[in-house]
Amino acid sequence: MLKQLFRKKDLNQLLQNKEKSDLESNSLAKHLGVKDLTALGIAAIIGAGIFSTIGNASANGGPAVILLFIFTAVACGFSALAYAEFASRIPVSGSAYTYSYVAFGELAAWIIGWSLIMEYAIGNIAVAISWSDYFTALLRNIHISSLGVNGIRLPEWMTMDYFTAFKTYKEFGADYANGMELTFMQQEACLAWLNAPSIGEQKIIADLPALLIIFLVTWLVYRGIKESKNISNAMVIIKLCIVFLIIVVGAFYVDTKNWSPFAPNGVSGVLKGISAVFFAYIGFDALSTTAEECKNPQRDLPKGMIYSILICTVLYVLIALVLTGMVPYYKLGVGDPLSFAFEELNLNWLSGIISISAVVAMASVLLVFQLGQPRIWMSMSRDGLLPKKFSDIHPKFKTPGFATIVTGFVVAIPALFLNLTAVTDLCSIGTLFAFLLVCGGVLILEKKKDIPQPKFKITYINSKYIFPALFLLSVVLSFTLKPEETKDFFKGRKIKEAENLLKQTSSAKKADWLMLAQSNHGLDAKLFEEENPLQFWLEKKDYQEYKSTLVEFGLTEDEMFEGGWETFKHRIPFWVFLIFCLVMAVLAFKHDLSLIPLAGLISCLYMMSELGISNWIGFSAWLVGGLVIYFSYGFFNSKLSIGVKEQQ
Ligand code: ALA
Repeated sequence: MLKQLFRKKDLNQLLQNKEKSDLESNSLAKHLGVKDLTALGIAAIIGAGIFSTIGNASANGGPAVILLFIFTAVACGFSALAYAEFASRIPVSGSAYTYSYVAFGELAAWIIGWSLIMEYAIGNIAVAISWSDYFTALLRNIHISSLGVNGIRLPEWMTMDYFTAFKTYKEFGADYANGMELTFMQQEACLAWLNAPSIGEQKIIADLPALLIIFLVTWLVYRGIKESKNISNAMVIIKLCIVFLIIVVGAFYVDTKNWSPFAPNGVSGVLKGISAVFFAYIGFDALSTTAEECKNPQRDLPKGMIYSILICTVLYVLIALVLTGMVPYYKLGVGDPLSFAFEELNLNWLSGIISISAVVAMASVLLVFQLGQPRIWMSMSRDGLLPKKFSDIHPKFKTPGFATIVTGFVVAIPALFLNLTAVTDLCSIGTLFAFLLVCGGVLILEKKKDIPQPKFKITYINSKYIFPALFLLSVVLSFTLKPEETKDFFKGRKIKEAENLLKQTSSAKKADWLMLAQSNHGLDAKLFEEENPLQFWLEKKDYQEYKSTLVEFGLTEDEMFEGGWETFKHRIPFWVFLIFCLVMAVLAFKHDLSLIPLAGLISCLYMMSELGISNWIGFSAWLVGGLVIYFSYGFFNSKLSIGVKEQQ
């Protein structure tokens, strides 16, 4: 059984088949060079991430979000190199799915194929939701005085998901009723809740534009829209022009006061944006699916991936700087932050242009992902891991018709109901997992000498001493720089957050603490304008200061800390990360592992560990569902298993 789970595709065989089909002119036309690949990379990368999810990331992290963009770019760069080495070793289509079939065997290939479906399906749900935000903003901004059109407003209940409306109304409904000042999104959500039609007790709130765009794109893909490089290049030019326009015009409206404080919510605020920022980079990996269509994949693919990441990083950092410079960071938590920022400054003409181009740019990402996804179903079906129907080719349109229709439903229906943050997180965790396996695959294949060597190879730097030393150094540094926080972490406890702590405290006690803070620390009088000055003041403190302040307030350890399972469960991802680092340090020492793919592996796992236990649970549920399908179908019907039986 174990042997079957780890049965692998034979690399030599795969390459021979490819040579054979090349000779028989069965292969795809090879016309992609470095420029086309870089353009394709940018086409797949720039989309909802920069037009939409950057809003919440900036609202949480402030201007310091640019550091997250740089860190993520470096991590993606390591993975891109690993993808490139694989693509050059195995220049056939199928991307990470085929790579892991060769490196790890069938079970891992299934898991990665399943994660890629998650990346593309859930990614597209996220892009469709953002598309809907921009589309409705665009409609709002249509003003044609001769026709008496002064903005077209769809009812709010048909432009957002149920849970956003429900949660926002629960939190801000009373404020809304009292006419208090709310953000635009909060008002929309309250209106959606209040005006929604109901069936019985159940309110009907669903994101209809998201559903419609997915059906439209699926229909186009089904009819065989060809992703020609010219169309893709044209889209890239439009996207880049608009991004340049935003940066250049926005730069004139930057008020440098908005950049201070640079990291208003500290490191934890910045890290909240990790999945949004990572999401903005997803797409470069799709280049590896074009290996068979490259003129010289060994030389051009690595360059195409790295160039597209570099270009996007520069653009992303500049956009984040301009955005957080134009509008105070805390206002940016909206679905269409770029056009919102220009609207705030009364530059409605530009806001309109941004909305139009965002709608086009995101539609192009939708198209690429919606094209890619059925082809993964198809590859898996061809290998016997999914029913044959998934590889049916439409007789007239020559597209994987059945798989395309299934994809349409799989993406469109959840897009009606799901919340953008939740889907972005799930997409990011699935993709990070795929990257992690690709980096791991490079480490494994590198040690094999009986397979053809790739033309592009990641520069080998021996991690034998470097990685264990870096690991040790990080542990020592966290004990010296953040002694209290680190010790509390290992003791399995966590100091209560100011908001929670104050909620559990009586008003009399809070008044005492406030006086104490005023007399002993000169709590700034200006802060009294804030609704909750004590919380505001406490939240600005670092861990050490916060803890000593609570001691000064006379809190006992029991009152100050929370622990037990509730605290521990949120730390499981980080524990997994720590243990994994330890194991890899030993392996690096014993087997002289290559440093760059190892760094890719570690940085992807680190980002995963920051995504929170609920995403790990969601992702695990997805994997378990996938395994059930594999063990009830793929395991018995795999071409490899049938091939073995026939040989016997
Ligand atoms: N990187 C792609 C986007 O931001 C997924 O839309």
